[in-house]
This record gives sequence, structure tokens and C-alpha cells, in this order.
Amino acid sequence: THSTTDPASIWVVVNKQHPLDPLTWAPDDLVAVGGLRLRAEAAAALQEMLDAAAADGVRIGLRTGYRSYDQQAAVRADLERRRGYAHAEQYSARPGFSEHQTGLALDVDSPTQPGCALRLCFADTVEGRWVAARAGEFGYLIRYTDDNSEVTGFGGEPWHLRYVGVELVQHLTENGLTTLEEAFGVTGGASYPDG
Ligand code: DAL
Ligand code: ZN
Repeated sequence: THSTTDPASIWVVVNKQHPLDPLTWAPDDLVAVGGLRLRAEAAAALQEMLDAAAADGVRIGLRTGYRSYDQQAAVRADLERRRGYAHAEQYSARPGFSEHQTGLALDVDSPTQPGCALRLCFADTVEGRWVAARAGEFGYLIRYTDDNSEVTGFGGEPWHLRYVGVELVQHLTENGLTTLEEAFGVTGGASYPDG
């Protein structure tokens, strides 16, 4: 019911094999939520999720949401400079190939354990466990896990949430799937078309 190739679709699959088209695409309905920007539908869902977490006494920290092509290029270049090419390839998309550029993805963190920001130990924090258990109710998917990294092409990122809508999360859950690639039969993996 939604396109998997239109960058404006909530089901768009963006990975190392499928960049945004056009490469510098930008959304036109970004809104501010908790200090970051997301597309309106994703922002509304995030606000509901934050409210539900707060009702459980959990404060989810927010790092980044939408990143433009140029911002992604800068983030990627910075990581590559600090951690080297191989690490950057595993954890940071090349510009034009990041879900952050769709305005549908965000990185969350842990105010109670700030040392676990953008680290695998985020999964074991109060906030990481809450998100793993409940984000799906709000249409958010934990997009990258160590278990599905061969499919997604990226290493596990328990902090990276992608908005796809509750309907698709339900479909994934019912079919025992964790990736958009498997749900839609779209290619993925760790290599880029041009190597
Ligand atoms: N960290 C994710 C893979 C990105 O750069 O979009
Ligand atoms: Zn991310």
C-alpha cells in the first residue's frame, strides 16, 4: 500500500544497495520534536512514544533525527577520520544512503547511562530495554541488530529507530521478520553498487 522506492513513502527501503532517489532528496514536512527534526507523521508518533515512556517513568534521550545529504556527508567523514574507513563503512552510511535523510529515522540514548550512547550497551539500559519492548506500538522499528547485519549491511545499532508505521511492524512481528529487506524482498547487504 506504500511505495518502497519513493523517498517520501513511510515504507521506503534505504540501504547500501538502494540510495535515496534523487541522492540529495529532502523531505518537505519536517517538524521539530524534542530538539530534533523528523517528518510530521514520524514526529507525532515519537511524541506519543515519549509520552508513554514518561508515563512509565522512563525518559528517552534524543540525539539526531533528520540529517540532510550534506550533514550525513559530514557525520560520515568525521567518523571515518576518527575510527577509520572499515569502521565507518559498518556504522555510518555514505551520504544519500542513510535513513536519517528520509526524516523517518532517529537515534535515541540513555540519560541514566550516558556512557552507552551509540554503543551496544545501550540495549541493556533502562531506555534501551523500554524502546526494544515498546517502540513497535508507535510504528518504530529497531532497524539494525547484530543478528540481521548481513541483511541490512550495517552493524547492530540498538539506538537507531526507523518509523514505518504500526501496520508494517505488526506484519514483521507476525512473520518473524526483523528487516524491511526481507519484508519486501529487496536486496541489501554490506556492499555498495560501485564497490
Ligand atoms: N548509522 C546509520 C546506519 C546511518 O548512518 O544511517
Ligand atoms: Zn541512526
